[in-house]
Amino acid sequence: MEHDFLPINGTDYVELYVGNAKQSALFYQYAFGFELLGYAGPETGVKDRASYVLKQDKIRLVLTTPLFEDHPIADHIKKHGDGVKVLALWVDDAEKSWKETTSRGAISYEEPKTIKDAFGEVKVASIHTYGETIHTFVERKNYKGLFLPGFIEKKTEYKTQPIGLKYIDHCVGNVGWGEMNKWVEFYEKTMGFNLLITFDDKDISTEYTALMSKVVSSGNGYIKFPINEPAEGKKKSQIEEYLDFYNGPGVQHMAIATDNIIHTVTELRKRGVEFLEVPESYYTDLLDRVGKIDEDLQPLKDLNILVDRDEEGYLLQIFTKPVQDRPTLFFEIIQRKGAKSFGKGNFKALFEAIEREQGLRGNL
Ligand code: FE2
Repeated sequence: MEHDFLPINGTDYVELYVGNAKQSALFYQYAFGFELLGYAGPETGVKDRASYVLKQDKIRLVLTTPLFEDHPIADHIKKHGDGVKVLALWVDDAEKSWKETTSRGAISYEEPKTIKDAFGEVKVASIHTYGETIHTFVERKNYKGLFLPGFIEKKTEYKTQPIGLKYIDHCVGNVGWGEMNKWVEFYEKTMGFNLLITFDDKDISTEYTALMSKVVSSGNGYIKFPINEPAEGKKKSQIEEYLDFYNGPGVQHMAIATDNIIHTVTELRKRGVEFLEVPESYYTDLLDRVGKIDEDLQPLKDLNILVDRDEEGYLLQIFTKPVQDRPTLFFEIIQRKGAKSFGKGNFKALFEAIEREQGLRGNL
């Protein structure tokens, strides 16, 4: 393999810009089992915004809201609604990562800088990716604090019950008509990613809607970014609906891995998280399609969990409905049992489920 000019250790954090971070923080604690870890805001000397950092196993979410009308984050929320702003990548050298990528054509969002507090220092630098989304390179080898300099520890009375969410498996971006290859090329050329898989409209189409997708992966395979673009169908594609409501490209879903999807989804449902439903018929010949699996069929059917198999094994997955009122960001819960793919065998059943929801919203 060629020299990897952008070695990435993993996802560092995902930051969402939201209309009310205080309330969103409680939603992700209560419904998704995250633990409140830290806070930055007026009380800590950050005058224009409030940020809450939440954690579950290896996953860190940051929820940020602006405090003033005349603020770039307020503009972001007005345009996109709640959504992902930062896909932060954990690296050993933030400045080098920024230089390697900007010298290959990435557009800088923020030049390398060092932030410090009593627990040490963190170097960060950011580049633009699709839409208004950015990648922040985070170098934290000289930092012992809980998250980033400036954040203070924050706890709540509410006792979080983790539900088995472990790490971010992949993050999917929706881009505009005909833009998929441009962004795949961006990840290949400026970030040294490799093209893993291609799905065309023959793989992913239903009677009404179609999309095309390619998956790129970092040199070491730790980071996977599928990129979707809409394709021509009889009616409005789900990607088009996203682009209309997000007002442009952005993160469509984050897939979070669990070791026990039955437990995780049971808990999520109990706490009010809503999922896409597939018809009963999906389960009738499921075992003929995917072969022998370790799990009993009944709980999978009761919870509406999908199964798919590839050459290396199988996977279990389920998709939430959008987690805000705009039909934009949603989550996938995934358990891999050998399979390294993305559930191609479920695309049709899944997209028909999405179309039913789209139809209810009058956007088909
Ligand atoms: Fe996915």
